[in-house]
Order: sequence, then structure tokens, then C-alpha cells
Amino acid sequence: MWKMHFSVSDHVTWVGKTDWELQTFHGEELSTFKGSTYNAYLIQDEKTALVDTVWTPFARQFVEDLKETIDLDEIDYVVALHAEPDHSGGLIELMREIPDVPIYCTSMAARFLRAQYHQDWNFVEVKTGDTLSLGKQELVFVEAKMLHWPDNLLAYLTGDQILFSSDAFGQHYSSEVLFNDLVDQGELYREALKYYANILTPFSKMVARKIDEVLEMELPLKMICPSHGVIWREDPAQIIETYARWADDYQEDQVAIVYDTMWDSTGRMAAMISDGIRAVDPTLTIKHLHTAKRDKNDIIAEVFRSKAILVGSSTVNRGVLSSISAILSLIEEMGFKKKKASAFGSYGWSGEAPGLIRETLEDAGFEILIPELREAWTPDAEGRDRCRTFGRDFARQL
Ligand SMILES: Cc1cc2nc3c(=O)[nH]c(=O)nc-3n(C[C@H](O)[C@H](O)[C@H](O)COP(=O)(O)O)c2cc1C
Ligand SMILES: [Fe+2]
Ligand SMILES: [Fe+2]
Repeated sequence: MWKMHFSVSDHVTWVGKTDWELQTFHGEELSTFKGSTYNAYLIQDEKTALVDTVWTPFARQFVEDLKETIDLDEIDYVVALHAEPDHSGGLIELMREIPDVPIYCTSMAARFLRAQYHQDWNFVEVKTGDTLSLGKQELVFVEAKMLHWPDNLLAYLTGDQILFSSDAFGQHYSSEVLFNDLVDQGELYREALKYYANILTPFSKMVARKIDEVLEMELPLKMICPSHGVIWREDPAQIIETYARWADDYQEDQVAIVYDTMWDSTGRMAAMISDGIRAVDPTLTIKHLHTAKRDKNDIIAEVFRSKAILVGSSTVNRGVLSSISAILSLIEEMGFKKKKASAFGSYGWSGEAPGLIRETLEDAGFEILIPELREAWTPDAEGRDRCRTFGRDFARQL
């Protein structure tokens, strides 16, 4: 029995699941080294509403534990903020017991839930501004299209003044205590940033617009309850302000050197290029990221923080090394804006890789600062000097 329900506010109880063991999410797409949580919330006023459930493997335990906290027949409404299985996975098990209870969600979510579970549940479709009275307080709904799916919905609880934000403001971060003021602040920031960088970057424009819209509503806010990770109860506005900064083409005074190498020739080039950059700007942060040895999502988080990147690969079979293709594909998907880049790499006879990298970075919207640098085989003293000069030229253009 893993039940650890806890009180969030006068009327809200956390009834989710802490998944200490989760190491990857979205199949194998996203690393979650700190585990995660699937947050579900029970709101008990004159009426009772359940906001979201948990991921499918935990569905049975979720329902069993819920029964210890409340008689399921007392649940008047289910709210599904998002149709993705990490939050809707408990519905089959739950709705088997309470089949007639209405499920409040967006029309998109109703469509997605039908398409995934093939059940004829009692969906009530809601739009921005719709409300659901729970007695003394009500839930106010705000659609959050593309944060991060077309179906996402936010719900604001008047009275307790809580925003249920679905996947926005979340972190894949499991912790014994799920309040922002009680956890390691460095860990929390890193996980929130990695989550934003990897999941929300493609939708930054919509994030910025939604934040403006919610701020204009001037809702008094005591807490933000996301669907993963800690609840923001101390200074909840901080994560909204942070998201506003992240959504605004975020960058720090950092350059990431992202490379792969078979016999370390390109690796040596990376080191010399870095020397050159440092000679021009000793205070700039430089990150060395070997794409085959470092986690791809951590690399994306570092690219997100960088104002410029250098991508290096040796040429193999007239192409780039496979970990470089993989990271370039992810970088393209993210749609980063206002970042600068150049390419480099060692080669033996044909040397296509740096040019291919430059083309991909151009297509991905990066401003190419200087032409790519190619070095045949292992760079000698002159080659190493060319690498340093390349680094200096790059840094001067930043
Ligand atoms: C399997 C394999 C395939 C290669 N294919 C090419 C190629 O198509 N064109 C080329 O210019 N060099 C090719 N090379 C040579 C490498 O690019 C060269 O050895 C380079 O210096 C390796 O740099 P690295 O130590 O950074 O990996 C190939 C090397 C290997 C091992
Ligand atoms: Fe999601
Ligand atoms: Fe989620």
C-alpha cells in the first residue's frame, strides 16, 4: 500500500502517485532521473470533484487508495485537464465504479479520450470562462491549447484560490514532500527548466500568450497545483515569472559545444575551439557535451540555456555520427529562436559532416556566425591554431 494522500488546502487533497522509480517518460524519449509524480486532486465542498487521475500502471492502486479517502459515490464530477495517459490512465478503472459521473474536459480532450479508451462516458465539454459550482466555491475553466497538447485545460478554484495548471509549471521530480518551499531549490529549478526546455519550448509563443491572458484575469493566487512534481505554494508567482522569461527566447551568457568523436580528433578540435573562445571572453560559460555520452535531454536543456552553440562531428560514410543526427533532429523539433551557431569536425577524405551540420542548423533557425571548420585527420600544431582562431572569431561575433 503506497497511499500518501495529503492535505493541500482547506478543500483540496492530493490523491496522486509518487513514482520514485521512473527513469524515462514518453516511452524512452525523455529522461526522468529524479522520477516523477502524477498529481490528482480531490476537491471537497458541498459537491466533490476529482481533478485528473494517474498513469495507467497505477490505476488499480489509485482507485483502491481513493476509496480509503472517500466513498466513490460521493464524487459528483471528474475533471480531466488533459487526455494524456499519465493523467487519464486511471479513468477506466475509476469509471467502471462510477460510470454515470460526468467528466468535465475540453472538446478535444473528449475526442482524445474516446480515441484512446473507446468508452462512452458522460463528457461535459467546457470552454474558457465556463464554471462549475461546487457549493461555496467554483471551478473556473481556461483552455490552454498547446500547453502542451491541443486539449489542455486549466481550472481555477475560487475560495481556496488555487490554479490547477495541468502539465504547465510541472517538473519530473519525485519528493517525499510535494511543496516548493520544502525541497532542494537547485534541484527544483533544474528539473523545472529541463521540463520546459524539452516539452514546452516548441510552444513558447503560446505559453507567453496564455500567461498574459491569465495575468489579465487578475485572479488572486495562493497556489499552483501542476500535474507533475511539487505544488507551488510559496510565492507561486515566481514560476509564472520564470515561464514568462523562458518563453521569451531565453538565453544565458553560455555557449554549448555539442560534439561526437570516434578517435578524439573532433574532441581535440572542441578543446582548442574552447580555448579560443575563452581567450576572447573569459567570463562566458562554456559547456562541453559529448552527444554519445551525455543524456540527450540534458543536452537540450543546455542548448536552451545557451546563446550560441557549436556542433561538431567527424565525417562517417559521408554523413555525421549517429548521436549528432539524433541531437540535431531534437534541436530542429524544439524550434529555438534567436540562437547563433557554427559547425566543425575532423575528416579523412571527403569531409561532408560540418557542411551538413551547418545546413541543418540553418534550417532549424540558427544564425550561422562563421563558416564551418574542417580539419583533416588529427589536427597538428597548425590545425590546432586554426581551431583556436575559429573559437576566437566565433566569440567575437557573439
Ligand atoms: C567507419 C568510418 C567511416 C568513415 N567515413 C568517412 C567518410 O565517408 N568521409 C570522410 O571524409 N572520412 C570518413 N572517415 C574518416 C574519419 O572522418 C576520420 O578518421 C576522422 O579524423 C575521425 O575523427 P574523430 O576522431 O573525431 O571521429 C570514416 C571513418 C570511419 C571509422
Ligand atoms: Fe502531457
Ligand atoms: Fe503529464
